[in-house]
Amino acid sequence: MNYDDTIKFWNNVFSNENTKKLDKPLPYPELEKALNWLAKGSDSVLDYGCGDGVFLARSYYLGIENGLGIDISQEAVQKGMANLEENNIDSYIIEKGNHLKLNEIQDNFFDSAILSNILDNVLPEDGMFILEEIHRIVKPDGKILIKLNDYIEGEDVLSNKEIFKEELQKNFYLETSGLYFHNLSDSNLEEIIKSQFRVEDKFFIYFKNTNKKNRIWLLRNKLLP
Ligand SMILES: C[S@@+](CC[C@H](N)C(=O)[O-])C[C@H]1O[C@@H](n2cnc3c(N)ncnc32)[C@H](O)[C@@H]1O
Repeated sequence: MNYDDTIKFWNNVFSNENTKKLDKPLPYPELEKALNWLAKGSDSVLDYGCGDGVFLARSYYLGIENGLGIDISQEAVQKGMANLEENNIDSYIIEKGNHLKLNEIQDNFFDSAILSNILDNVLPEDGMFILEEIHRIVKPDGKILIKLNDYIEGEDVLSNKEIFKEELQKNFYLETSGLYFHNLSDSNLEEIIKSQFRVEDKFFIYFKNTNKKNRIWLLRNKLLP
């Protein structure tokens, strides 16, 4: 299993995006709430799977001075850097890489981190690795924002043949788009993270245009063992 189709998918998406000015609040109050919480007291942020850097650029306007984005898609990185430039942000950088890139970052380096719609789109073992690395890289009591797709409950996921193609491992699917989807319930996620992070808040974000909801967790990093 590899990320070739994931990369193709996101390269295609981001090559068709326009650059954005992000000095105004995002049109989702829940996202602004989460990013405002993250920015309070943070001077640095790491966004893993940052896409075109919208959360990073917004974090800058909310007061976080330094930022690093990592994304596996070359087009995401290019569009992200273009967004940083469009917003005159020269203290942030976005680099191309996968989970192994996190190895290059020192312990306790960042005040905060963002994992937005990434943990449920990577291989389960890579997701575990990413969480371990975020725990190591973010300072004790530092802030972590996790956003996940909604949990698909009580139905056979594969019955939706338009979207889902194959169950590759328990609760882990290949979509017809080529993307991966790990159908993590709240309790699955909270069980996985409980030794590393403490939940400070948790809420939904609703997308009216697609009639979908995402889940947001605001976490605090526990001390390294
Ligand atoms: C759903 S988008 C989320 C983008 C952004 N975080 C947001 O919430 O708007 C997923 C992003 O993760 C990136 N991605 C997917 N798999 C990855 C991996 N294994 N390592 C790093 N980035 C990855 C994709 O290229 C894409 O930009």
